[in-house]
Amino acid sequence: MKHQLTAHVSRRAVLAAGAALPALMTNPVIAQSPGLDVPYVPTPQDVVDRMLDMVKPTAKDFVMDLGCGDGRMLVTAAAKFGARGRGVDLNPVRITEATENARRANVSDKVEFIVANLFATSIREADVLTMYLLPSVNLLLRPRILDEMRPGSRIVSHAFHMADWEPDQQDEVRGRNLYHWIVPAKVAGKWNLHEGSNMISLDVFQQFQNLTGLAKTEAGAKGKVTGRIKGTEVTFNVDMGNGSKTYTGKVADGMIDPGSGAGWNAAHETRIGR
Ligand SMILES: C[S@@+](CC[C@H](N)C(=O)[O-])C[C@H]1O[C@@H](n2cnc3c(N)ncnc32)[C@H](O)[C@@H]1O
Repeated sequence: MKHQLTAHVSRRAVLAAGAALPALMTNPVIAQSPGLDVPYVPTPQDVVDRMLDMVKPTAKDFVMDLGCGDGRMLVTAAAKFGARGRGVDLNPVRITEATENARRANVSDKVEFIVANLFATSIREADVLTMYLLPSVNLLLRPRILDEMRPGSRIVSHAFHMADWEPDQQDEVRGRNLYHWIVPAKVAGKWNLHEGSNMISLDVFQQFQNLTGLAKTEAGAKGKVTGRIKGTEVTFNVDMGNGSKTYTGKVADGMIDPGSGAGWNAAHETRIGR
């Protein structure tokens, strides 16, 4: 399994990343260090700073770094933004270094570092997730990120993307790509859109942040739905053939709330997925 993971790093991804980690991955000795799915290559401090600027941790946030290395991501998040966090790494040497770095930066009360396998680590608690892993490892984590993390939580990845889940924001520091995603709420399924005395049923299909679907009035007229979701904020257009109308609201507890005075609401009648 571990050797498979390293072998799956595509040459294109390696060339595109333009960072130290992909270069190391071409070295079969380092790539196959016993037990590790990713070799240790620390993120340079200016890249750490930019990654954290993208996900904007606050003192209310719990940040997790999967494969935390010497802990620099969480130590910086705690020292600069007051965030709390937990880092896991399979290598006990890294955990000793990270714990010592937290002590030196006076943030031991905010962050903890644990020897653990990232694949066996729950990410439910995380408001922010940071990663410098590999494309194949990111892809293995992707379904867990989408299912376990709360809508609106933020992810930032150094060098590697998550295939067809397009990032909400992308940046670059000295040729290193940085990707930022916001976990979208799950809105696939049937919705009833009530507006005045009218009701339109919407069959919504969701592909990450992108929404498409079919609309149907009670009288049987049919139309199209398109839209986009960012965390819990959804914007969708309903086109019944006489010009499209845009609806914007927040998804919570099976409802879309447009705020007061909008004159409509939508209720999730049948969900697809969790
Ligand atoms: C590229 S380094 C990134 C370190 C740190 N996050 C940073 O950005 O500076 C990847 C780290 O993942 C750790 N690692 C590799 N496989 C792991 C696994 N299955 N579970 C936990 N940590 C792992 C390695 O020991 C290494 O420290």
